[in-house]
Amino acid sequence: MNTVAARLAPFGTTIFTEMTRLAQRHSAVNLAQGFPDFDGPDFVKEAAIDAIRAGRSQYARMFGDPGLNSALAARWESLTAQRVDPDTQVTVTSGCTEAIAATMLGVINPGDRVVMFEPFYDSYRASAAMAGAEIRFVTLCPPVDLCAGHVTTAPFWFDMGELERAMTGARAILVNTPHNPTGHVFSRDELERIAFLCAKHNVLAITDEVYEDLTYGHEHVRLATLPGMSERTITLSSLGKTFSLTGWKIGWAITTPDLSRAVRAAHQFLTFATATPLQVGAIAAIERGSDYVAALRARFTQGREFLATTLASLGFGVVMPRGTYFIMADHTEVSRRMGVAGDVEFCRELPARFGVAAIPPSVFYDNPQHGRPLVRFAFCKKQETLEEAATRLRSIIAASR
Ligand SMILES: Cc1ncc(COP(=O)(O)O)c(C=O)c1O
Repeated sequence: MNTVAARLAPFGTTIFTEMTRLAQRHSAVNLAQGFPDFDGPDFVKEAAIDAIRAGRSQYARMFGDPGLNSALAARWESLTAQRVDPDTQVTVTSGCTEAIAATMLGVINPGDRVVMFEPFYDSYRASAAMAGAEIRFVTLCPPVDLCAGHVTTAPFWFDMGELERAMTGARAILVNTPHNPTGHVFSRDELERIAFLCAKHNVLAITDEVYEDLTYGHEHVRLATLPGMSERTITLSSLGKTFSLTGWKIGWAITTPDLSRAVRAAHQFLTFATATPLQVGAIAAIERGSDYVAALRARFTQGREFLATTLASLGFGVVMPRGTYFIMADHTEVSRRMGVAGDVEFCRELPARFGVAAIPPSVFYDNPQHGRPLVRFAFCKKQETLEEAATRLRSIIAASR
Protein backbone atom coordinates (compact mmCIF):
# COMPACT_ATOMS: atom_id res chain seq x y z
CA MET A 1 0.00 0.00 0.00
CA ASN A 2 1.22 3.52 -0.80
CA THR A 3 1.10 5.21 2.57
CA VAL A 4 2.99 8.39 1.69
CA ALA A 5 1.02 11.11 -0.10
CA ALA A 6 1.97 11.59 -3.73
CA ARG A 7 3.41 15.08 -3.19
CA LEU A 8 5.96 13.68 -0.72
CA ALA A 9 6.50 10.15 -2.03
CA PRO A 10 9.37 11.17 -4.37
CA PHE A 11 11.52 12.41 -1.50
CA GLY A 12 11.95 9.17 0.48
CA THR A 13 14.08 9.19 3.65
CA THR A 14 16.68 11.94 3.77
CA ILE A 15 20.25 10.97 3.02
CA PHE A 16 21.26 12.23 6.49
CA THR A 17 19.22 9.49 8.11
CA GLU A 18 20.82 6.80 5.93
CA MET A 19 24.39 8.05 6.40
CA THR A 20 23.99 8.55 10.16
CA ARG A 21 22.66 4.99 10.44
CA LEU A 22 25.66 3.68 8.48
CA ALA A 23 28.04 5.76 10.60
CA GLN A 24 26.53 4.30 13.79
CA ARG A 25 26.61 0.73 12.48
CA HIS A 26 30.34 1.00 11.70
CA SER A 27 31.30 3.30 14.60
CA ALA A 28 32.49 5.72 11.95
CA VAL A 29 33.68 9.27 12.53
CA ASN A 30 30.62 11.16 11.36
CA LEU A 31 31.63 13.95 8.99
CA ALA A 32 28.29 13.53 7.24
CA GLN A 33 25.63 15.47 9.08
CA GLY A 34 26.31 19.12 9.81
CA PHE A 35 26.20 19.37 13.55
CA PRO A 36 29.06 20.02 15.98
CA ASP A 37 30.33 17.35 18.37
CA PHE A 38 30.74 20.01 21.05
CA ASP A 39 28.20 21.99 23.02
CA GLY A 40 26.84 25.51 22.65
CA PRO A 41 27.70 28.31 25.10
CA ASP A 42 26.89 27.88 28.80
CA PHE A 43 25.43 31.37 29.27
CA VAL A 44 22.79 30.60 26.63
CA LYS A 45 21.93 27.27 28.24
CA GLU A 46 21.74 28.96 31.65
CA ALA A 47 19.29 31.54 30.31
CA ALA A 48 16.99 28.79 29.02
CA ILE A 49 17.28 26.80 32.25
CA ASP A 50 16.48 29.93 34.28
CA ALA A 51 13.41 30.48 32.07
CA ILE A 52 12.20 26.92 32.77
CA ARG A 53 12.81 27.39 36.51
CA ALA A 54 10.90 30.68 36.38
CA GLY A 55 7.89 28.89 34.90
CA ARG A 56 8.22 30.18 31.35
CA SER A 57 6.66 26.99 30.06
CA GLN A 58 3.44 27.96 28.34
CA TYR A 59 2.86 28.78 24.68
CA ALA A 60 4.86 31.69 23.37
CA ARG A 61 3.28 34.44 21.31
CA MET A 62 2.51 33.12 17.82
CA PHE A 63 5.15 35.21 16.02
CA GLY A 64 7.77 35.12 18.78
CA ASP A 65 8.57 36.04 22.36
CA PRO A 66 8.55 39.87 22.45
CA GLY A 67 12.10 39.93 23.86
CA LEU A 68 13.42 37.77 21.04
CA ASN A 69 11.62 39.74 18.32
CA SER A 70 13.17 42.92 19.75
CA ALA A 71 16.64 41.37 20.02
CA LEU A 72 16.44 40.17 16.40
CA ALA A 73 15.21 43.56 15.18
CA ALA A 74 18.06 45.33 17.02
CA ARG A 75 20.59 42.88 15.61
CA TRP A 76 19.21 43.39 12.10
CA GLU A 77 19.51 47.15 12.44
CA SER A 78 23.10 46.91 13.68
CA LEU A 79 24.02 44.64 10.75
CA THR A 80 22.15 46.39 7.95
CA ALA A 81 21.33 49.93 9.15
CA GLN A 82 17.72 49.05 8.27
CA ARG A 83 15.12 49.55 10.97
CA VAL A 84 12.47 46.81 11.21
CA ASP A 85 9.46 46.73 13.49
CA PRO A 86 9.86 43.72 15.83
CA ASP A 87 6.11 43.07 15.96
CA THR A 88 5.23 43.26 12.29
CA GLN A 89 8.47 42.39 10.50
CA VAL A 90 10.12 39.66 12.55
CA THR A 91 8.60 36.17 12.87
CA VAL A 92 10.20 33.54 15.10
CA THR A 93 9.91 29.99 13.74
CA SER A 94 10.94 26.51 14.80
CA GLY A 95 14.27 26.55 13.00
CA CYS A 96 15.01 27.86 9.56
CA THR A 97 13.49 24.68 8.16
CA GLU A 98 10.08 25.77 9.39
CA ALA A 99 10.73 29.31 8.14
CA ILE A 100 11.42 27.87 4.68
CA ALA A 101 8.22 25.81 4.72
CA ALA A 102 6.12 28.68 6.12
CA THR A 103 7.51 31.05 3.49
CA MET A 104 6.83 28.65 0.62
CA LEU A 105 3.35 27.85 1.86
CA GLY A 106 2.67 31.49 2.68
CA VAL A 107 3.70 33.15 -0.59
CA ILE A 108 3.59 30.49 -3.32
CA ASN A 109 0.43 29.50 -5.16
CA PRO A 110 0.14 26.11 -6.87
CA GLY A 111 1.78 26.38 -10.28
CA ASP A 112 3.98 29.39 -9.36
CA ARG A 113 7.56 29.02 -10.44
CA VAL A 114 10.29 28.98 -7.80
CA VAL A 115 13.93 29.20 -8.85
CA MET A 116 16.66 27.59 -6.76
CA PHE A 117 20.30 26.74 -7.23
CA GLU A 118 21.44 23.14 -7.35
CA PRO A 119 22.94 21.62 -5.28
CA PHE A 120 20.28 22.67 -2.76
CA TYR A 121 19.56 22.12 0.92
CA ASP A 122 17.24 19.14 0.84
CA SER A 123 14.18 20.73 2.44
CA TYR A 124 13.86 23.33 -0.36
CA ARG A 125 12.52 21.03 -2.99
CA ALA A 126 10.13 19.26 -0.62
CA SER A 127 8.81 22.58 0.79
CA ALA A 128 8.31 23.97 -2.70
CA ALA A 129 6.55 20.73 -3.69
CA MET A 130 4.26 20.97 -0.66
CA ALA A 131 3.29 24.45 -1.87
CA GLY A 132 2.61 23.05 -5.36
CA ALA A 133 5.39 25.07 -6.99
CA GLU A 134 6.98 24.42 -10.34
CA ILE A 135 10.72 24.37 -9.61
CA ARG A 136 13.48 25.60 -11.93
CA PHE A 137 17.07 24.80 -11.06
CA VAL A 138 20.17 26.79 -11.88
CA THR A 139 23.40 24.82 -11.51
CA LEU A 140 26.28 25.99 -9.37
CA CYS A 141 29.34 24.57 -11.15
CA PRO A 142 32.63 23.64 -9.48
CA PRO A 143 35.69 25.79 -10.25
CA VAL A 144 37.26 24.89 -13.59
CA ASP A 145 40.70 24.31 -12.02
CA LEU A 146 39.41 21.63 -9.63
CA CYS A 147 41.80 18.66 -9.83
CA ALA A 148 42.95 15.66 -7.81
CA GLY A 149 45.43 16.35 -5.04
CA HIS A 150 44.96 20.14 -4.97
CA VAL A 151 43.02 22.74 -3.04
CA THR A 152 41.52 25.41 -5.27
CA THR A 153 40.48 28.75 -3.84
CA ALA A 154 38.44 29.60 -6.96
CA PRO A 155 34.68 29.82 -6.35
CA PHE A 156 31.70 27.85 -7.61
CA TRP A 157 29.98 29.77 -10.42
CA PHE A 158 26.75 29.85 -12.45
CA ASP A 159 25.63 30.97 -15.87
CA MET A 160 23.81 34.31 -15.87
CA GLY A 161 21.88 33.45 -19.03
CA GLU A 162 20.59 30.25 -17.41
CA LEU A 163 19.56 32.28 -14.36
CA GLU A 164 17.68 34.88 -16.40
CA ARG A 165 15.84 32.19 -18.40
CA ALA A 166 14.81 30.51 -15.14
CA MET A 167 13.71 33.78 -13.52
CA THR A 168 11.59 34.96 -16.42
CA GLY A 169 8.02 34.45 -15.25
CA ALA A 170 9.04 33.20 -11.78
CA ARG A 171 7.29 34.13 -8.53
CA ALA A 172 10.32 33.68 -6.28
CA ILE A 173 14.01 32.80 -6.16
CA LEU A 174 15.56 31.05 -3.19
CA VAL A 175 19.17 32.04 -2.51
CA ASN A 176 21.22 30.30 0.13
CA THR A 177 24.35 32.22 1.06
CA PRO A 178 26.75 31.08 2.47
CA HIS A 179 25.76 28.00 0.54
CA ASN A 180 25.38 24.43 1.74
CA PRO A 181 26.87 22.13 0.43
CA THR A 182 29.34 24.06 -1.77
CA GLY A 183 30.64 26.56 0.80
CA HIS A 184 30.10 29.26 -1.82
CA VAL A 185 29.51 32.80 -0.54
CA PHE A 186 27.60 34.71 -3.19
CA SER A 187 29.62 37.79 -4.12
CA ARG A 188 28.19 41.29 -4.10
CA ASP A 189 28.40 41.25 -7.89
CA GLU A 190 26.40 37.98 -8.13
CA LEU A 191 23.78 39.28 -5.72
CA GLU A 192 23.50 42.58 -7.59
CA ARG A 193 22.76 40.65 -10.77
CA ILE A 194 20.16 38.55 -8.94
CA ALA A 195 18.64 41.77 -7.53
CA PHE A 196 18.55 43.29 -11.03
CA LEU A 197 16.68 40.23 -12.35
CA CYS A 198 14.28 40.26 -9.37
CA ALA A 199 13.32 43.84 -10.20
CA LYS A 200 13.19 43.24 -13.96
CA HIS A 201 10.95 40.16 -13.70
CA ASN A 202 9.09 41.12 -10.52
CA VAL A 203 10.41 38.15 -8.54
CA LEU A 204 10.42 37.77 -4.74
CA ALA A 205 13.69 36.77 -3.09
CA ILE A 206 13.83 34.27 -0.25
CA THR A 207 17.26 34.07 1.33
CA ASP A 208 18.52 31.34 3.63
CA GLU A 209 21.39 32.82 5.63
CA VAL A 210 21.83 30.25 8.41
CA TYR A 211 25.64 30.31 7.89
CA GLU A 212 25.80 34.13 7.87
CA ASP A 213 28.35 34.19 10.70
CA LEU A 214 30.53 31.44 9.27
CA THR A 215 32.56 33.06 6.48
CA TYR A 216 36.33 32.97 6.16
CA GLY A 217 37.70 36.21 4.77
CA HIS A 218 34.74 36.74 2.44
CA GLU A 219 32.06 39.37 2.91
CA HIS A 220 28.55 38.07 3.63
CA VAL A 221 26.23 40.35 1.67
CA ARG A 222 22.55 40.36 2.61
CA LEU A 223 20.39 40.54 -0.50
CA ALA A 224 17.82 42.60 1.43
CA THR A 225 20.38 45.41 1.78
CA LEU A 226 20.80 45.96 -1.98
CA PRO A 227 18.86 48.88 -3.49
CA GLY A 228 15.16 48.10 -3.91
CA MET A 229 15.48 44.64 -2.35
CA SER A 230 14.19 45.19 1.19
CA GLU A 231 10.68 45.43 -0.29
CA ARG A 232 10.86 42.06 -2.01
CA THR A 233 13.14 39.94 0.17
CA ILE A 234 12.28 37.52 2.95
CA THR A 235 15.47 36.91 4.95
CA LEU A 236 15.55 33.61 6.83
CA SER A 237 18.10 32.48 9.36
CA SER A 238 18.50 30.62 12.63
CA LEU A 239 20.48 30.19 15.81
CA GLY A 240 21.72 26.64 15.32
CA LYS A 241 24.87 27.04 13.24
CA THR A 242 26.14 30.28 14.82
CA PHE A 243 25.79 29.03 18.39
CA SER A 244 26.35 25.27 18.01
CA LEU A 245 22.77 24.68 19.16
CA THR A 246 21.36 22.89 16.12
CA GLY A 247 18.88 20.93 18.24
CA TRP A 248 17.20 24.06 19.59
CA LYS A 249 15.51 24.84 16.29
CA ILE A 250 15.08 28.57 16.78
CA GLY A 251 14.74 30.34 13.44
CA TRP A 252 13.26 33.54 12.06
CA ALA A 253 11.99 35.40 9.03
CA ILE A 254 12.60 39.14 8.61
CA THR A 255 10.68 41.00 5.90
CA THR A 256 8.05 43.66 5.19
CA PRO A 257 4.81 43.69 7.21
CA ASP A 258 2.91 42.42 4.15
CA LEU A 259 5.23 39.51 3.48
CA SER A 260 5.39 38.78 7.22
CA ARG A 261 1.61 38.37 7.18
CA ALA A 262 2.00 35.76 4.44
CA VAL A 263 4.71 33.86 6.34
CA ARG A 264 2.62 33.95 9.52
CA ALA A 265 -0.48 32.77 7.68
CA ALA A 266 1.32 29.43 7.29
CA HIS A 267 3.43 29.49 10.47
CA GLN A 268 0.37 29.78 12.74
CA PHE A 269 -0.93 26.45 11.43
CA LEU A 270 2.41 24.64 11.13
CA THR A 271 3.76 25.02 14.66
CA PHE A 272 1.86 28.07 15.94
CA ALA A 273 4.72 29.00 18.28
CA THR A 274 8.27 28.00 19.17
CA ALA A 275 9.50 26.59 22.52
CA THR A 276 9.27 29.42 25.06
CA PRO A 277 12.35 28.78 27.24
CA LEU A 278 14.55 28.24 24.20
CA GLN A 279 13.45 31.60 22.83
CA VAL A 280 14.56 33.16 26.12
CA GLY A 281 17.93 31.41 25.75
CA ALA A 282 18.13 32.74 22.20
CA ILE A 283 17.81 36.31 23.46
CA ALA A 284 20.98 35.80 25.53
CA ALA A 285 22.77 34.38 22.48
CA ILE A 286 21.77 37.25 20.21
CA GLU A 287 22.53 39.97 22.76
CA ARG A 288 25.70 38.59 24.35
CA GLY A 289 27.09 36.10 21.84
CA SER A 290 29.68 38.03 19.85
CA ASP A 291 32.76 36.60 21.67
CA TYR A 292 31.44 33.08 21.26
CA VAL A 293 30.89 33.62 17.53
CA ALA A 294 34.40 35.05 17.04
CA ALA A 295 35.94 32.05 18.82
CA LEU A 296 33.81 29.60 16.82
CA ARG A 297 34.86 31.21 13.56
CA ALA A 298 38.53 30.95 14.58
CA ARG A 299 38.05 27.27 15.43
CA PHE A 300 36.33 26.53 12.11
CA THR A 301 39.00 28.47 10.21
CA GLN A 302 41.52 25.98 11.60
CA GLY A 303 39.31 22.96 10.95
CA ARG A 304 38.69 24.08 7.37
CA GLU A 305 42.43 24.41 6.69
CA PHE A 306 43.22 21.07 8.33
CA LEU A 307 40.54 19.08 6.52
CA ALA A 308 41.17 20.74 3.13
CA THR A 309 44.90 19.99 3.18
CA THR A 310 44.35 16.47 4.52
CA LEU A 311 41.85 15.66 1.77
CA ALA A 312 44.12 17.07 -0.94
CA SER A 313 47.05 15.02 0.38
CA LEU A 314 44.90 11.89 -0.03
CA GLY A 315 44.11 12.63 -3.67
CA PHE A 316 40.81 14.49 -3.39
CA GLY A 317 40.33 17.63 -5.48
CA VAL A 318 39.26 20.19 -2.89
CA VAL A 319 37.32 23.44 -3.25
CA MET A 320 38.29 25.67 -0.34
CA PRO A 321 34.93 26.78 1.11
CA ARG A 322 34.44 30.52 1.57
CA GLY A 323 31.74 29.96 4.18
CA THR A 324 29.67 27.30 6.06
CA TYR A 325 31.30 24.32 7.76
CA PHE A 326 31.36 22.00 4.76
CA ILE A 327 33.98 21.08 2.21
CA MET A 328 33.07 19.84 -1.25
CA ALA A 329 35.70 17.68 -2.87
CA ASP A 330 36.08 15.65 -6.03
CA HIS A 331 36.55 12.00 -5.06
CA THR A 332 37.14 10.57 -8.56
CA GLU A 333 40.82 9.66 -8.08
CA VAL A 334 40.26 8.22 -4.58
CA SER A 335 37.20 6.17 -5.55
CA ARG A 336 39.08 4.84 -8.60
CA ARG A 337 41.75 3.51 -6.22
CA MET A 338 39.01 2.01 -4.03
CA GLY A 339 37.38 0.40 -7.05
CA VAL A 340 34.03 2.16 -6.66
CA ALA A 341 32.17 4.58 -8.90
CA GLY A 342 29.91 7.51 -8.07
CA ASP A 343 29.32 9.47 -4.89
CA VAL A 344 26.57 7.28 -3.42
CA GLU A 345 28.62 4.09 -3.72
CA PHE A 346 31.71 5.94 -2.44
CA CYS A 347 29.83 7.21 0.64
CA ARG A 348 28.27 3.81 1.33
CA GLU A 349 31.73 2.16 1.23
CA LEU A 350 33.54 4.77 3.29
CA PRO A 351 32.11 3.92 6.76
CA ALA A 352 32.52 0.17 6.36
CA ARG A 353 36.03 0.23 4.87
CA PHE A 354 37.59 3.28 6.50
CA GLY A 355 35.34 4.23 9.42
CA VAL A 356 34.41 7.70 8.18
CA ALA A 357 31.00 8.96 7.04
CA ALA A 358 30.38 11.68 4.44
CA ILE A 359 27.46 12.86 2.30
CA PRO A 360 26.97 12.07 -1.40
CA PRO A 361 25.93 15.40 -2.95
CA SER A 362 24.13 13.95 -6.00
CA VAL A 363 20.99 13.83 -3.82
CA PHE A 364 21.12 17.64 -3.70
CA TYR A 365 20.96 18.00 -7.48
CA ASP A 366 17.98 17.84 -9.78
CA ASN A 367 20.35 16.21 -12.23
CA PRO A 368 22.24 13.73 -10.00
CA GLN A 369 24.98 13.36 -12.62
CA HIS A 370 26.28 16.79 -11.62
CA GLY A 371 26.99 15.55 -8.10
CA ARG A 372 28.44 12.14 -8.91
CA PRO A 373 32.12 13.15 -8.80
CA LEU A 374 31.70 15.06 -5.52
CA VAL A 375 31.56 14.33 -1.80
CA ARG A 376 30.72 16.60 1.14
CA PHE A 377 32.59 16.52 4.46
CA ALA A 378 31.65 18.56 7.56
CA PHE A 379 34.43 20.17 9.60
CA CYS A 380 32.28 21.46 12.51
CA LYS A 381 34.02 18.97 14.79
CA LYS A 382 36.60 18.93 17.57
CA GLN A 383 40.19 18.96 16.31
CA GLU A 384 40.69 15.43 17.72
CA THR A 385 37.66 14.21 15.73
CA LEU A 386 39.09 15.69 12.54
CA GLU A 387 42.48 14.12 13.31
CA GLU A 388 40.90 10.72 13.92
CA ALA A 389 39.06 11.04 10.58
CA ALA A 390 42.35 12.00 8.89
CA THR A 391 44.14 8.96 10.35
CA ARG A 392 41.37 6.66 9.16
CA LEU A 393 41.23 8.24 5.71
CA ARG A 394 45.00 7.87 5.32
CA SER A 395 44.45 4.13 5.36
CA ILE A 396 42.80 4.66 1.94
CA ILE A 397 46.27 5.42 0.61
CA ALA A 398 47.82 2.48 2.45
CA ALA A 399 45.06 0.13 1.25
CA SER A 400 45.44 1.15 -2.38
CA ARG A 401 49.25 0.65 -2.51
C1 LIG B 1 21.20 25.73 4.16
C2 LIG B 1 20.46 25.30 5.37
N1 LIG B 1 19.28 25.85 5.65
C3 LIG B 1 18.56 25.49 6.72
C4 LIG B 1 19.04 24.53 7.60
C5 LIG B 1 18.20 24.14 8.77
O1 LIG B 1 18.25 25.08 9.76
P1 LIG B 1 17.48 24.81 11.13
O2 LIG B 1 18.20 23.75 11.86
O3 LIG B 1 17.52 26.14 11.79
O4 LIG B 1 16.10 24.39 10.77
C6 LIG B 1 20.27 23.93 7.36
C7 LIG B 1 20.76 22.86 8.25
O5 LIG B 1 21.61 22.09 7.93
C8 LIG B 1 21.00 24.33 6.22
O6 LIG B 1 22.18 23.77 5.94
